Amino acid sequence: MILVTRKAHFNAAHKLWNPQWDQARNEEVFGKCANKHWHGHNFELWVTVAGEVDPDTGFVVDLKWLKKIIEDRVIEPLDHSNINLDVPFMQGRMASTENLAMAIWDQLWETLQHPRYRLYSLQLFETPNNSVTYYGPGFGGLPPAP
Ligand code: NI
Repeated sequence: MILVTRKAHFNAAHKLWNPQWDQARNEEVFGKCANKHWHGHNFELWVTVAGEVDPDTGFVVDLKWLKKIIEDRVIEPLDHSNINLDVPFMQGRMASTENLAMAIWDQLWETLQHPRYRLYSLQLFETPNNSVTYYGPGFGGLPPAP
């Protein structure tokens, strides 16, 4: 098995706000992230595909194709958006980095299923220092190798 990673980038605004809580509780839990006038991040997304090398190309996956899939399914709906208001796949979800990574997985995994490779992980950076890594649904560690 070998891992191939494509990096992508988008800018988006959000706020962290639980509508079941009052303002004081939201501010206590989320601090500045609960600012009602929103705030933005420069997100970086690392999409990792695991698989075996195709002997005909020497590639696991065509990175031009992977780039286009990520652009169409993820960057186009998210870039310069308000995650809470504008992004169909985030409606009704808290706009945390964890939830966003899981929603992005749902946008990608079906297309990135192939007998020779598949989506392996997503790492989503909200800031250079803060990121989440998602290996797909379920708890208990890494998925089996393809
Ligand atoms: Ni934020």
